[in-house]
Amino acid sequence: MTPDLAAYARDGFLILEGYVSAQDCDALQARAAALVAAFDPGPVRTVFSARDQGHARDHYFQESGGAIRFFFEEAATDQPVPLALNKIGHALHDLDPVFDRFSRQPRLAALAHALGLARPLLLQSMYLFKQPRIGAEVGWHQDAAYLHTQPSTVTGFWIALDDADRHNGCLVELPGAHRGPLRERFLREDGRMITRRSDASPWPDVAPVALEARRGTLVVLHGLLPHASAPNRSSRARHAYALHLIDGRADYPADNWLQRPGLPLRGFA
Ligand code: FE2
Repeated sequence: MTPDLAAYARDGFLILEGYVSAQDCDALQARAAALVAAFDPGPVRTVFSARDQGHARDHYFQESGGAIRFFFEEAATDQPVPLALNKIGHALHDLDPVFDRFSRQPRLAALAHALGLARPLLLQSMYLFKQPRIGAEVGWHQDAAYLHTQPSTVTGFWIALDDADRHNGCLVELPGAHRGPLRERFLREDGRMITRRSDASPWPDVAPVALEARRGTLVVLHGLLPHASAPNRSSRARHAYALHLIDGRADYPADNWLQRPGLPLRGFA
């Protein structure tokens, strides 16, 4: 499958329908379910003392770039754990054999190269649950705000593991708006995570487009493309797997939130 590079340059995204087989979607969903079943939520959900909770939680997140960690939906109260999680992140692709194999398939390597990543490195992976009824909204953002390189190279592969539509919180984006500047960065400063505005321009005045995607669709997202997703108000889950790549030729700042001490970045090999 040759990607439509002209459309990608114009729009900042590409929709590759039927890219991932039903079998592979099943395998990723089954693997995520197994990881969740083996996860002991005690320390994350209940054990922290009230005073330490914020600090311990921050720590749990800050170290997740080189780990497999589980994050709850804020609205989760009495849901069982498999229906209460927001995501698993952020090194599934390095630390779990099923996600590793899937993420490093030669087809994805070829796609990354075709998109212009000469030395693609697999930086971040997330299993996104977008749970029925409580799956939270994700506000407008550029992925490069979280995964910054100089120059900007971050590229997302977002794969629908369930049908994603307007009712269960599909992606929404501003076509062509990837040609604007990076607006802000989420970074480490003195051991804390902060958001710093780097450009005051508003998002351009273009109509948002909902990227409804059937199960197995791969959406390529340019790192500077503003996108969001609505809350899931439906009774249907909207699972997705998101993999973020950068080009090893670009500089990866030491103040990026995602650091992986002891877990070197790898490409597709
Ligand atoms: Fe994003």
